[in-house]
Amino acid sequence: MPNRETIAILDFGSQYSQLIARRVRENHVYSELLAPNTPAERLRALNVKGIILSGGPASVYAAGAPRCERDIFDVGVPVLGICYGMQIACQLLGGEVRAGQTREYGRVRLNVRRPVGVLAHLPPEISVWMSHGDVVTEVADCFEPIAVTAACPVAAVRHKSLPVFGVQFHPEVTHTPNGEQMIRNFVYDICGCRGDWRVENVIEAAVETVRTQVGPDDRVICGLSGGVDSSVTAGLLHRAIGARLICIFVDNGLCRTNEAALVETTFHDHFGMDLRVVDARQRFLSKLAGVLDPQEKRRIIGHEFIEVFKQEAKAIPGARFLAQGTIYPDVIESGHGPTGHSAVIKSHHNVGGLPVELGFELVEPLRLLFKDEVRRVGEALGLPENLVWRHPFPGPGLAVRIAGDVTEQRLEILRAADDILLEELHAAGWYRKVAQGFAVLVPVASVGVMGDGRSYEGQNVVVIRLVESKDFMTADWVHIDYAVLATVSNRIINEVPGVNRVAYDISSKPPSTIEWQ
Ligand code: XMP
Repeated sequence: MPNRETIAILDFGSQYSQLIARRVRENHVYSELLAPNTPAERLRALNVKGIILSGGPASVYAAGAPRCERDIFDVGVPVLGICYGMQIACQLLGGEVRAGQTREYGRVRLNVRRPVGVLAHLPPEISVWMSHGDVVTEVADCFEPIAVTAACPVAAVRHKSLPVFGVQFHPEVTHTPNGEQMIRNFVYDICGCRGDWRVENVIEAAVETVRTQVGPDDRVICGLSGGVDSSVTAGLLHRAIGARLICIFVDNGLCRTNEAALVETTFHDHFGMDLRVVDARQRFLSKLAGVLDPQEKRRIIGHEFIEVFKQEAKAIPGARFLAQGTIYPDVIESGHGPTGHSAVIKSHHNVGGLPVELGFELVEPLRLLFKDEVRRVGEALGLPENLVWRHPFPGPGLAVRIAGDVTEQRLEILRAADDILLEELHAAGWYRKVAQGFAVLVPVASVGVMGDGRSYEGQNVVVIRLVESKDFMTADWVHIDYAVLATVSNRIINEVPGVNRVAYDISSKPPSTIEWQ
């Protein structure tokens, strides 16, 4: 997007850095995480409207601590330092930072001495979220403290002549109830943004970028997995290049009920895309026969996928590009900055390995977007709700949710149980509150009483796994209403032959993983 308003975030390594970017974007202003030592010259070239210095785990006085250039304060745009960011700003401009006498972690009362700048429109006393051991012990003459806490005499500062502010606490976390107002103050009142990061503009910009990258005679292949990212990628590309997009969906037989059908009705019937559905169900099942080790299952599925995809792609003449649903968190995790690092290949197997092997160039229209933005783009493109809000689903599919041998019969049992679970989650209004929810089939000869006698009929236990998670690196089990569990259990036992016991998984990650295998 030409002249898009941008707030640069110099990332000193805080666990909250991505959150700052999201908070700014929620205010309809594009924000980007950059390396902490990004030269002032580059920030000028990017024409940023403001700079935020993030928090970070180091001490500014420690050897080797990440630093920003002193010159960034002369770029001529406002700067907001958060936590470590405030400390480094104060230090670079002549103040002093030391280890505090008392550490402040968690919720703290803040006295707003002067409700100006970033603290404008705030009452005299508010609650904020702190997480620091170091404090600014001395501010340079050019700075003025504007808020204090019981343990921290410099809890917020403003520069006397430049638009430079600092806060020791974290306005970006939801535990700082007025944080939103502070970010808004900075972005709108201080930096003078108008808010041009809106879904229509995002789509327009992505379409423009694709059209610039892909020549008028080039064709693009997109591997659809049925997940959110690949679906939205296909939607955007179709908007950009129409019939020159060819989608490939490999039906490996390890999907949930109706998943292949949904992909077909959405992309072929509704959008009229050139969709090639490859029925590889038998091929995958025969390769998986008798394989019990989950890693071996993954390896086989990954390998077969590449083979099938390769064959299909070969049949498409003029295809120079491969579209991939890389999103912003993947980009951030691979290193900072919009340039200077190679494209990330998702480790998940859906298109993994293909670009290098086949020599495709990558098209990644989502690489600047967070997941919630991807979903909003998906909605705006008219993708169905059940695709846009779908929980993540592993590439190897149900094969890693069936402990032991993967057979058609066991897949059918798991699909039926999983279907009931999802149906009830939707019905009870829990589906969107859960990060990921699924059923697992565990082959345990569990005795049951069915009718008049003892029964080993099932030989299967179905385990229900529901987790809440922000990033899927850590997760907790969902404290869902018992009534929902009762209905799910009752329906599975009554409606799914082959299951006589249902259990609920109450393990967190770590140490457990989200998937069972
Ligand atoms: P774990 O089980 O490692 O899962 O806690 C974290 C997230 O990754 C997904 N997952 C996979 N996704 N291929 C994938 O594409 C895989 O082999 C795989 N294993 C786990 C899992 O569903 C969760 O969202």
